[in-house]
Amino acid sequence: MQRHSEECMLSPLTGVCLHATGYNSCIMMTGSAQYSSSRVALLNVTDILQQIASDVRACTACKLHQAAMKAVPGEGPPDARIMFIGEAPGFNEDRQGRPFVGAAGQFLEELLGLAGLRRADVFIANVVKHRPPNNRDPEPDEIAACSEFLERQIAAINPPVIVTLGRYSMARWFPGEKISRIHGQPRWIGERMIIPMMHPAAALHQPQYRTLIEADFRRLPEFVAQAEARIAQRSAAAAPDKPDEPEVQQLSLF
Ligand code: URA
Repeated sequence: MQRHSEECMLSPLTGVCLHATGYNSCIMMTGSAQYSSSRVALLNVTDILQQIASDVRACTACKLHQAAMKAVPGEGPPDARIMFIGEAPGFNEDRQGRPFVGAAGQFLEELLGLAGLRRADVFIANVVKHRPPNNRDPEPDEIAACSEFLERQIAAINPPVIVTLGRYSMARWFPGEKISRIHGQPRWIGERMIIPMMHPAAALHQPQYRTLIEADFRRLPEFVAQAEARIAQRSAAAAPDKPDEPEVQQLSLF
């Protein structure tokens, strides 16, 4: 549990200060404290993300670390409003220790452009943080061993919108679903909007998928606006009423 001040409310979802505005700021009772509180919260999120990255680099919980060159914890701003979750690092990611830096990453950046976003605006992570040998699919025990890191990243960033890329990250929220059936259809899971999308690598070379994923990304700004509006509405409803003005007492002079 993390509380930046006695006055912060805790999120039942993440256990950290209630980011009820959707931003990484705590709700404080005093307006003047709010700005500094959000700075403190951001610093904390940065620290937390660094700690997670260092835990990922030290992780030996599954066999994937044995053949991998570098762990790929994920990257992006601590106050990202959108988090993209892919499958697992590939050849280039394994060498650089960064997610989506190969051909799929280049295509992802193009897709982000269709949504009016830059790579630097979003947090990018994977279900599995070490490269599976020969880019094979991650196995259930590897996904399970790595899930703690993703949980912690989501809890720290607390993004209103998560975009899953491909089957493996989709399965985390929508087990048993088919990506061909539900891609591009946002759903609310608790206070978060989850949007399943196809994996850019799958769409890169198959024209029929490419058209679909491009169309899904073009709708992203509309979905994000919906998520922001709902969160703002909820936070307005949850905000404590302004304290009543102290009653001016009419003193009788006589
Ligand atoms: N594909 C993924 O799913 N993740 C990466 O980081 C790169 C390619």
